[in-house]
This record gives sequence, structure tokens and C-alpha cells, in this order.
Amino acid sequence: MDRYCVFGNPIAHSKSPEIHAAFAAQTGHKLEYEKRLVPLNRFDAAVHAFIGEGGKGANVTVPFKLEAVELVQALTMRARMAGAVNTLQFTPLGIVGDNTDGVGLVTDIVNNAGVSIKGKRVLLLGAGGAARGVMLPLLEQLPARLLITNRTVSTAELLAQHFAPLGGKGVVSACGFEEVEGAFDIVINATSASLGAELPAVPSSVFAAGALALDMMYGKEPTPFLRFAASHGATPRDGLGMLVEQAAEAFALWREVRPDTREVLEQLRAQQ
Ligand code: ATR
Repeated sequence: MDRYCVFGNPIAHSKSPEIHAAFAAQTGHKLEYEKRLVPLNRFDAAVHAFIGEGGKGANVTVPFKLEAVELVQALTMRARMAGAVNTLQFTPLGIVGDNTDGVGLVTDIVNNAGVSIKGKRVLLLGAGGAARGVMLPLLEQLPARLLITNRTVSTAELLAQHFAPLGGKGVVSACGFEEVEGAFDIVINATSASLGAELPAVPSSVFAAGALALDMMYGKEPTPFLRFAASHGATPRDGLGMLVEQAAEAFALWREVRPDTREVLEQLRAQQ
């Protein structure tokens, strides 16, 4: 049976084995998918041990996504642009690193939430790894505007400079939380503020009428950002859909069939 796993630390709460088991059952593929807790200085060894055991591919989560870039022999363009790898494919020629997080976010917004990004005003909160990972797939959807805002303004400016050539003229810009002006159709929280139950300090005027507010985090309770967004008229959406979609993209890469994510997402929601 083909074997896959997810490497992380911590890893106990990962839903990936459950998601991939559901995809396998749905598509009739026989495979095993486990989670592996990796000591902080043992990522390289853990990956090679898994290859030695016959592993075919793996997902990579916190805190190894950057280290995975150094480990692989080849990177997809989207992984190179994201500066991070969340999916490994073990081939006879070496390890290929991909990144399915950004496309997962975009698929969730467009297909699951039913919100087109083309021509829209998009506000991205945060300028760390999670934000960088979604820049290319967001720009490929041709938004009218993509404003990056971050607590540390200089980091947002660097990210904007890096990606500006990939957007249309004047599409990508950056500023601090307090300087955000205007309203946005899609507001994405890519900061890790929700982990500490904190709210990024953006003005409530950022939500245009009918805006979609998406937090990349998920949990039983809505994050402070999603509560804030909902109380200002936006439609809140957590990161569970993004999680399922990035997994589907990885599954498609490994198994050459894209599973139907709708029923798996519904299943996970019912458990929340
Ligand atoms: P990740 O890989 O999750 O993106 P990261 O690269 O450490 O993690 O980036 C964390 C992001 O969350 C940064 O944009 C950080 O802002 P700073 O650059 O100013 O540090 C943001 N962040 C973390 N805690 C925050 C908080 N309480 N309020 C607002 N932004 C926060």
C-alpha cells in the first residue's frame, strides 16, 4: 500500500490523516496516511527515514515549511514564490517540493464560498510566511487591488515590492494597520494573531458591503477577527475550507485524481 504522512511539531491535532483517508475512500485509492511528530532538529532525517520505509509523498506543516525548501532537489514555481513547501513528492530523480496552501485558499474562496476574486479589492492582513504563500495564487486571479497590511510596516513593504511585478500596474501596495483606507470586498487574515486570541488592529471600515472575511485559522469558536468582521456586516469564513482544498491539491499531485472536497468539508464541519 502506498504510504504518505504529514511532518510537524506539534502534530497531534492535525486533521490531514482524516482528510486524506476520506479522499482515499471516495476515490477508491488504497493508501496509508499518518502523522509524524518530528523533533525540531530532525526534519531532514525524518524525511529520509520515511523515504527509506517506502514513503511516496508527504505534507509538511509548522515549523518545517521553510526548511523543506532547502531539502528538496526541485521546487515548483508556486513553492519558489511562496518561499515555503507544504507538499513533498518522492520521485526516482529526487524530492520535489510544492506548495498547495495558496491555491487551496483561492479554491476555497472561489468554489466553496462562491466569491470571484477577479476585479475585487483584496486586503491581506499579515506579511509572514502564511501571507507570502498566498500572494502568487491571489494575483493570478487578477484582483483590482491587493493591499498588504501588517503590524510591522517594513515587512509588508518588502512583500509588496517582491510581488508588485506580478500584479498589474498599481495593484499591489502596502501600509500599516492604522493607515488602511477604503473598503475591501475580500479581507484575509494571514496573521498568527488568532493563535493568541488577538485581533489585528485594522479599522472596521475595511469591510465593504457584502464583504467576505476569511481567517486562515480554524477552531471550534470563531476567531476574534471573524467576530469583528461579522459584527461589521462581513460574511465570516474560517480556514477549514482552505485546509481541505490544500489537501485535495496535494492528493491530486500524488494520485492524479482530484477528490470532491464538498462532502469532506461538510463532514469536518459537522464534527466541529
Ligand atoms: P506565519 O508562518 O503563520 O505567517 P510568521 O511568518 O511568524 O508566521 O508571521 C506572523 C504574522 O502574523 C506576521 O505578519 C506578524 O506581524 P509582525 O510582522 O508585525 O510580527 C503577524 N502577527 C502575529 N501576532 C500578531 C498580532 N497579535 N497582531 C497583529 N499581527 C500579528
